[in-house]
Amino acid sequence: MSDALLTVSGLAAGYPGAPPVLREISFAARAGERIAVLGPNGGGKTTLFRALLGELTPAAGTLERPARIGVVPQTERSRLDFPVSALDVALMGTLSTLPWWRRPSRADRARARQALADVGLADRADATFGDMSGGQRQRVLVARALVQDAPVLLLDEPYVGLDTPSTGLLDGLLRDLATQGRALLIATHDVEQARGWERVLCINKHQVAFGAPEEVLTREVLEATYGAEMVEVAGGDRCVIPAHHDHEH
Ligand SMILES: Nc1ncnc2c1ncn2[C@@H]1O[C@H](COP(=O)(O)OP(=O)(O)OP(=O)(O)O)[C@@H](O)[C@H]1O
Ligand SMILES: [Mg+2]
Repeated sequence: MSDALLTVSGLAAGYPGAPPVLREISFAARAGERIAVLGPNGGGKTTLFRALLGELTPAAGTLERPARIGVVPQTERSRLDFPVSALDVALMGTLSTLPWWRRPSRADRARARQALADVGLADRADATFGDMSGGQRQRVLVARALVQDAPVLLLDEPYVGLDTPSTGLLDGLLRDLATQGRALLIATHDVEQARGWERVLCINKHQVAFGAPEEVLTREVLEATYGAEMVEVAGGDRCVIPAHHDHEH
């Protein structure tokens, strides 16, 4: 596809000194798409993101990726609780594009402020990051990813721990970011949420399925994705994925 921003073919990835934990991953991410990445705990969602970022060397397959990929990592919301401001955190996004000796310029600060405005936090730039709500912190981390001006964004379980209003705000933000022509990969445990997005990628150590939600989110695929983790609702035809432990401790 000509408008693919990211193309992955036959990718295998894992950690040094061990067999790959993730195999046979093939999909493309196009502008305007929110792609739900579904899989059980330990299924390889974070490993996939690390491979896409170039942090892990692929053991097989090919990766066509843009020069910059923005990321909102799984664990950082609680780790960044030392006294820095929301603007400081957004500014970190400029650091990866700077030589180490250069301090953020006025233009960098303007970009960071603009990114905070883009996530609806223009008036919170000077707030202490650790004192903000979980939903606000998550949006600051999205702002930090936006500062890098990357066409592809990876968000690793960004909804964990958010209340309903914060979830709604993040939903709207991610929809806007996709509409503006980015591709978003969003790791989530929420199958119902995935139904509202453009594509779904199901992984459980290997790729189970990739496609439009109405094609992918069948009972068969969900069983292959979640296996024993899936629970059948008594008397019903519906399956649910039980609440997952997160890594926020
Ligand atoms: N740094 C590491 N070194 C070695 N193995 C790892 C490392 N990180 C993860 N793994 C292994 O890789 C596999 C996939 O883990 P990964 O964290 O990618 O899963 P996940 O889908 O993100 O899970 P979760 O939903 O719990 O976040 C697991 O078997 C895990 O033990
Ligand atoms: Mg993970």
